[in-house]
Amino acid sequence: MPPQPGPWLRRARRILPSLRRWRWELHRHPELSNQEVATRALLVGFLKDLGFEPELPRGFTGVAVRESTAGDGPVVALRADMDALPVSEATGAPGASRRPGIMHACGHDVHMAALLGAAWMLRTERPKGRFRLIFQPAEEEGGVGGAGPWIARGILGAPRVRAIVGAHVEPALPTGSVGLRTGAMMAAADRFRIRVYGRAGHAGYPQRGRDAVVTAAEIVTGLQTLVSRRRDPIDPTVITVGTLQGGLRHNILAGEAEMTGTVRTVRPETRDAVEQELRRRVSGIARSSGLRAKVDYRRGYPALLNPPEPTGRVREALRSELGPGRVIELPGPVMGAEDFARYLEAVPGCFFFVGAGRPGAPESLHSPTFLPPDETLTVAAASLAAAAAALGGRTP
Ligand code: NI
Repeated sequence: MPPQPGPWLRRARRILPSLRRWRWELHRHPELSNQEVATRALLVGFLKDLGFEPELPRGFTGVAVRESTAGDGPVVALRADMDALPVSEATGAPGASRRPGIMHACGHDVHMAALLGAAWMLRTERPKGRFRLIFQPAEEEGGVGGAGPWIARGILGAPRVRAIVGAHVEPALPTGSVGLRTGAMMAAADRFRIRVYGRAGHAGYPQRGRDAVVTAAEIVTGLQTLVSRRRDPIDPTVITVGTLQGGLRHNILAGEAEMTGTVRTVRPETRDAVEQELRRRVSGIARSSGLRAKVDYRRGYPALLNPPEPTGRVREALRSELGPGRVIELPGPVMGAEDFARYLEAVPGCFFFVGAGRPGAPESLHSPTFLPPDETLTVAAASLAAAAAALGGRTP
């Protein structure tokens, strides 16, 4: 027998027509990171319709509501991300993207609509606590991102945010469920560019030049054995070389080659060690062949760590809301990254996944056919409200 839906889920189902309207309006007008101008204008309209006072930070495409309820108690922030991806939508949905080559393929349209719904329900029900709404741009940017700069400009201050909640849709979990874990839940993501400098020459006389392509190939395999032979197999590490280019012509020794890639780790010590080892290994391989290599290594989002106390409260709230069988304990961290991690470096809180899986639908975010169902939207809205209320003091 399916579990009895809790009060927030019943409320979310009642406001489904509004949730849907917001979601599809946002879905039709996707924008890339740091360009969320139309998205922000839509959000400002929706927030005003609901009677909220939106604040627009200068020089920044986010929108916030500093206190969405006039109650007392600690300030709890709810955060949604706003940006879309350079993906050509292939869902065939009537509300599909009207912008060629751009799509909400990561479900951020669902996150924004769910946050509007949660804010509306929290204001109607008035659980203990005051609530800040954060619609944050540039989560997909991957390097600087939207969270870090906005935290630096004070989005968590005046009055000070005591806790924060956020959620992301997840097609690997069944629709109707949520997933979370205490401690490390998502990876740190760094990126690198490696340039290999050799000496071009006649391809028939390799001894007279320095072939950058062969050395680049050794570096690619060297980075794989760095993970498989130098790291503890139960301490997750991923190195992916995503691009590799070099040379000019089939019969000329490549004078230069270049590759770019990503490093994913969970523990901070591992993150430092892998960066050092990568640099050492690249220069060692290049030197042993008489070439030179330059490594440009950039740190991106840190690992996302859910602290025990607020995560325990959110877990309990979600269990009583959705039924215990619908709150899935993730067995380990996933190797995706998320700049919500930066809020959790500054304040306690909890991040969780909202199931969007359906039989026959793609199991991957960023897919051109990714389309979370309505139930994902209502569960996201209900879960955000329940989690925020749990951290604000009590559930109604
Ligand atoms: Ni995303």
